[in-house]
Amino acid sequence: MNTQPVILDTDPGVDDALAIMLALGSPELDVIGICTVSGNVPLKTGTRNAQGLLQLLERTDIPVFAGADQPLKRDPVFATEVHGESGMGQAVLPEPSQEVKGDAVDFLIQTLSDQPGEITIIAVGPLTNLALAEQRQPGTLQKARQVIVMGGAIVETGNSTPVAEFNFYADPHAAQIVVHSGAALLVVPLDATRQVILSESNIENQIAPLQTVASQFVVDATQNVLALYRQLGREPIVYLHDPLAVGAAIAPELLRVETLYIDIETSGDLTLGQVVTDRRSLPPPHRLGKPVDCAIHVNAEAFLSLFLKRIF
Ligand code: BDR
Ligand code: CA
Repeated sequence: MNTQPVILDTDPGVDDALAIMLALGSPELDVIGICTVSGNVPLKTGTRNAQGLLQLLERTDIPVFAGADQPLKRDPVFATEVHGESGMGQAVLPEPSQEVKGDAVDFLIQTLSDQPGEITIIAVGPLTNLALAEQRQPGTLQKARQVIVMGGAIVETGNSTPVAEFNFYADPHAAQIVVHSGAALLVVPLDATRQVILSESNIENQIAPLQTVASQFVVDATQNVLALYRQLGREPIVYLHDPLAVGAAIAPELLRVETLYIDIETSGDLTLGQVVTDRRSLPPPHRLGKPVDCAIHVNAEAFLSLFLKRIF
């Protein structure tokens, strides 16, 4: 089997942690570095979460690089109401023994320029690090084999605002730079990720009984999200947003992808971070934005069974 070298760019975050676990449990991927970014939680907290998780999983061989501590232009927004103050729900991670290896943006620029066409980036937080790498060294993202991004809502409603998904809302200017970068981009929006759900019964009946350090972590980490949904009068579930972006690298055949002309709103009061899709039947030069591959459907059952098999 050919192993794909990947860099995970993340704002850990409960589903980010699940994405890291999926990547580390998948023989198709070789995680050569984890980059952190301000998003679900402030940068310091997220970096510590990445390090603590690697410690818990006994994978401190993987270097962690700290990136941007704020978005390019807008004020930071966090998602602690979903992920908990620590970002890890009720899970308590061990103190990391590992040092931060360096700066995430430098690492991205250096690695992509050393190994052009080789590296897959899986970005599951706001796209600030990727955009800074592109700004500092134009053409950087085009050197990636593929850039897989969890973000945006195409037809689906948003989750931060009626029209905007969190990662694009948290740094719309960065998302716009990545969309316009000319990189081999695959966007995995809420339209696909809302199809992949970890139910309370999956957690109680398939995960908790395993009684391993990793399974206990998943049980504890997901409690906040379940409680939040109960409080909102909704069925308690955990969306596997970020794990699906990893799934796109491991098992792309599970996704149905459409090439859409998209751009990102960077200035609207009500629409900041919205993905604007140009579906007009005009010849391409007259359409707005860029043609980007967007995952719009997933074989959810097959993905969930792959996910549950791989994370433990
Ligand atoms: C995205 O927002 C974050 O809260 C999650 O970690 C995921 O990356 C979903 O909109
Ligand atoms: Ca995330």
